[in-house]
Amino acid sequence: MTDTPTEQLRQDHELVLMVVEAIEREVADIGKTGRVHRERVAQMVDFAQNFTDGCHHSKEERVLFPTLEERDAAAGGPVSVMLSEHEAGREAIRAIDAALPDVDESEAARTAVAGNLALYAHLLRLHINKENQVLFPLAERILSDQEQEMIAAEFERIEEEETGAGVHERYRELAHTLATPPADD
Ligand SMILES: [Fe+2]
Repeated sequence: MTDTPTEQLRQDHELVLMVVEAIEREVADIGKTGRVHRERVAQMVDFAQNFTDGCHHSKEERVLFPTLEERDAAAGGPVSVMLSEHEAGREAIRAIDAALPDVDESEAARTAVAGNLALYAHLLRLHINKENQVLFPLAERILSDQEQEMIAAEFERIEEEETGAGVHERYRELAHTLATPPADD
């Protein structure tokens, strides 16, 4: 049997949190050494844009959230908070992406990268906690088994047709790579 939609999203969150932990380690490293691991941060940006935002947030924003709002007007409040937090995360990632090419030469760029990485990690931890503790239990309460099956089928379609076959797997591997501290530092 396929996992329920909220189980699937919780599993995505586990991967996202592995990368959040790697981001926190990078922030601590930048603080200690004054150096940014450009390549590693670029991989974090890739993960945030294409897995967290592209794959995971698509499932939430396009399928789960609208269904919840349709089903229960009281879900509108928590959903709009979740949407604005997704947007705040996107802004932090855009700022990191914009400053990253200049980190070797520019102190301001290093500060922007470190500050926005820290902001993103902080934001995502609080956000995931809210979804796991508040929004998903609400979804589990108000959606029927049949509605949950329809949402799960739609998630599957998004993963196959829009995210692309093998993409989820590739980002799972990337999360594990980022979670393993490199031996060279
Ligand atoms: Fe989420």
